[in-house]
Amino acid sequence: MEIEKIKKQFKKDLESIKDIEKIRIRYLGKKGEIAWAFKQLKSFSLTAKKKIGPELNNLKREIEDLLEKRLKGRSNQQQFSPLYKSLPGKKPEIGHLHITTQAIREIVNVFKPLGFNRVRYNEVEWDYFAFESLNMPKEHPARDEWETFFIQDLSNPKKGKAVITPHTSSGQVREMLKGELPIRMLNLSRCGRREININHIPSFYQFEGLVIDKGINITHLRGLLDYFAQNFFGPGRKTRIRPFHFKFTEPSFEIDINCDLCLGKGCRFCKSGWVELGGAGMVHPNVLKFGKIDPCKYTGFAFGWGVERTYMMKSGTKINDIRHLFSNDFRFLEQF
Ligand code: DAH
Repeated sequence: MEIEKIKKQFKKDLESIKDIEKIRIRYLGKKGEIAWAFKQLKSFSLTAKKKIGPELNNLKREIEDLLEKRLKGRSNQQQFSPLYKSLPGKKPEIGHLHITTQAIREIVNVFKPLGFNRVRYNEVEWDYFAFESLNMPKEHPARDEWETFFIQDLSNPKKGKAVITPHTSSGQVREMLKGELPIRMLNLSRCGRREININHIPSFYQFEGLVIDKGINITHLRGLLDYFAQNFFGPGRKTRIRPFHFKFTEPSFEIDINCDLCLGKGCRFCKSGWVELGGAGMVHPNVLKFGKIDPCKYTGFAFGWGVERTYMMKSGTKINDIRHLFSNDFRFLEQF
């Protein structure tokens, strides 16, 4: 009788067959290998029976033991499976508004109580509203400042080429042409320019204020700038106006705020201690005329700043590169 052969085969099966019940039936079942061997033993001589009988019994016990061990091993594994019902679950992450959206909302909230009407003009604009109606005729060199994207194959004989709106000032004449006076407009829209560096991104937001009424003068503009600086940037922040030149305002200014990163000492970001927020001025009579408003009866002021840059100058944000805002890096975004 080939007891060794059965033993070898059993060990092979134990390694290769996963279903333990199947192995048990094959070896220990009524018609299994062991039962069959015992049947054969009947026809053996008495001395052979005495020798082989106990060997067969030992093999049977050995098989039973090994199968039992295997079964226990499995149930142990199940017992320590990684399902710990009392462990706290993973919470789904909750997002929040992007820093630019937060800035937009905060800016609108500063101007709303003063009666400003929030509008949003086109992101693709006609050359006419972006430049010509702002006192910058075709081919005028002043246009160069705006690093404009022109849209090919899209032009209108009266309104010129289409452009990606380079500044929110393009909403000024559109607002005037609505024909409703007085005007208190806050145009907050997306703009585009061909510039990318620590201070500039090609797609950004600007907000533009326009106030037109009888008797509006520079003191109203100064008062509004102070109001905004105190309500948006917080106490201790200073603004200053510098004489400048824009074709659509007369006189024109640039408005600076002391840098939040170095508080006016001068750093990699601001260089001089002051950061330019944007431009402002008294609306040029020619622009009023383009808007069908009589400059002898009405005057007004306007200002236009970048939303992202304004937010960066807010106390405590400490953002040293405007490009972080569009990097989609959670390590940055989660801080705000
Ligand atoms: N539109 C100008 C720019 O993007 C900023 C500006 C200057 C807006 C003077 C104004 C203004 O309303 O009066 O650089």
